[in-house]
Amino acid sequence: MGNRLPLPTLAGDFPLLDQRVNGQRLVYLDNAATTQVPLAVLEAMRAFELRERANIHRGVHTLSQRATDAYEHAREAVKRFVGAGEAHELVFTSGTTEALNLVAHGLSDAGLGPAWLRPGDEIVVSALEHHANLVPWQVAARRSGATLRVLLPAASGRLTVDDLLPLLNPRTRVFALTACANATGHRPPYEALLALAAQAGALTVLDAAQAVTCATPNLAALACDFMAFSGHKMHGPMGSGVLLGRRSALERLVPLRFGGDMVEWVGLTDARFAQLPARLEGGTPNVSGAVGLAAAAAFIDSVGRDAIHAHVGRLRHAAATGLAALPGVQVLAADEADTAIVSFVADGVHPHDIGTLLDERGVAVRTGHHCAQPLLDHLGVGPTTRASFALYNTDDDVRELVEGVDTALRRLR
Ligand code: ALA
Repeated sequence: MGNRLPLPTLAGDFPLLDQRVNGQRLVYLDNAATTQVPLAVLEAMRAFELRERANIHRGVHTLSQRATDAYEHAREAVKRFVGAGEAHELVFTSGTTEALNLVAHGLSDAGLGPAWLRPGDEIVVSALEHHANLVPWQVAARRSGATLRVLLPAASGRLTVDDLLPLLNPRTRVFALTACANATGHRPPYEALLALAAQAGALTVLDAAQAVTCATPNLAALACDFMAFSGHKMHGPMGSGVLLGRRSALERLVPLRFGGDMVEWVGLTDARFAQLPARLEGGTPNVSGAVGLAAAAAFIDSVGRDAIHAHVGRLRHAAATGLAALPGVQVLAADEADTAIVSFVADGVHPHDIGTLLDERGVAVRTGHHCAQPLLDHLGVGPTTRASFALYNTDDDVRELVEGVDTALRRLR
């Protein structure tokens, strides 16, 4: 496998990739859905499970203390990874979806006192979003009586600052945006958009799930109150993720989970809740998931974020160019430089058929609406075929993709 990998330090790190699928070399290009896990991450989790596993925060015994230390060290490591400062806190979650639900629910639930969102308020959400950063806001609007307003991109799929300006007013209380559209690969100018919404008095929410591995947002430099991402999209474990944010904003959230470990005092008819981050982490957390997530961050840094960014950007450019040259193929966000995702449609051919024929060649891509149906409907393209790159992909993988699509189109037409 060594000769397939772009950087010598990666040789042997991803045994899963060294296999045949349908009799062909596996070409894994579904990294926007889930990345693969390096041995270093599995080793970190294994070491925790074999030598330190115990419940945290509750025990006076040594093992519980060691498990607590492992969990809290992981928290600090992930905070450093995204440039969190003194004013920030990190809450471990099961992934981006739970993190975004925690925010949308927490700002609209009036169960512990007046909610941040009230009747007459406005929530602005971009139309680039994955369903996980759209549906929770639809429900939050219903729950609170607020109005949901949608920031629509131009026909090109791009969002600009000028598009947001007319939607902001003194009633805008929340602005939610992705750092990279999972269905198209468009990277909006989120720094400027968040800053504008914050100036208007809104709490700002950034879904960083598709950006964290190759174009990690720097939290300290952003006008961002809440940021979410998942471990499994950054070479970490499934079922792990984070919600980061300004402490003052996180304190506004009504917890999603009430129970053990998130309370300071409990009586029969009332309770007082713990400080952050425990307040938002009720129940036994996924401790080995947190350890694995921190190990994934360390792995990414050991390879180098700039190197990864340049590598996947180059592959994306080569793929977009090769695919756009095929007859009747339209690449979405064709000129985007800052993304690892290439999404396309082909005249007269359904993406599922392309995906099935690619799979016969060992090429794994995602087809369909990518949980972003309103965006693809708005752009008038419908379902797409999506390839997405990670640090272990190579020029050979891009060639295999483009040749595979070319062959599929000839067969299907
Ligand atoms: N959100 C993941 C994707 O875009 C599952 O494929």
